[in-house]
Amino acid sequence: MGSERTDAHIHLIYGVDDGAKTPEDMQRMLDEVHRNGITTVYATSHRTPGYREFPVDLYGARLAEANAYCRAQGYPITVLPGAEILYTPALHNEIEREELQTLGDTDVVLAEFVPNVRYEEICTAIELLQTHGFTPMLAHIERYACLAPTLFSRGKAYALKKKYPNVLLQVNCGAVLSRMQKPNGRYIEQWFRAELIDCIASDAHDCGRRKNRMQKACDALAPVCSPAYMTYLTTFGTNG
Ligand SMILES: [Fe+2]
Repeated sequence: MGSERTDAHIHLIYGVDDGAKTPEDMQRMLDEVHRNGITTVYATSHRTPGYREFPVDLYGARLAEANAYCRAQGYPITVLPGAEILYTPALHNEIEREELQTLGDTDVVLAEFVPNVRYEEICTAIELLQTHGFTPMLAHIERYACLAPTLFSRGKAYALKKKYPNVLLQVNCGAVLSRMQKPNGRYIEQWFRAELIDCIASDAHDCGRRKNRMQKACDALAPVCSPAYMTYLTTFGTNG
């Protein structure tokens, strides 16, 4: 069809993390989702295994509210469950209790790390998830210093993808727009030219400083990526 577009990482469920705070915030964020041409959304609220209990029932009720709002507005948008899971040692427990939230009914887990995570720690997390049948999607890989280039190498993101070809690498639209254009962010453009990245997503938290910039990021990437690759980057989970 060519009209499908997915946002696989967004914080629009209100009152459960540092994203939307009120029903109105969530509605405005859904308006922005629609304006950005997005038709499938994974509502990836933050979860931190072992740190605090996630309000699963509240989340479910507000996810239903999000879909009801889209229907009422006539938006062709489906809001699916998801989570952005911070890697902690307690991730094991979550897996054992079979409580790990994937992106919708896929086997993909959106995993984030602290910015100064060690490369070896990322590998440990990937192997833990893969051992249990999950496909890791690494959230906003531009944030992890261990994957960025050094003076003498093009950086470990390439080695990571070679070692784990099935791992999905996600970059935020904000990074495409604010960092890719700058001299010290050129390596992000190289990642796209090398077709290393699997997914771009908004990681929107509000309609202000961290708003949805999916359309602008697509426009910025168009000269760098083939049409087929652009489609791949923006249609996670739609068979597009
Ligand atoms: Fe996020």
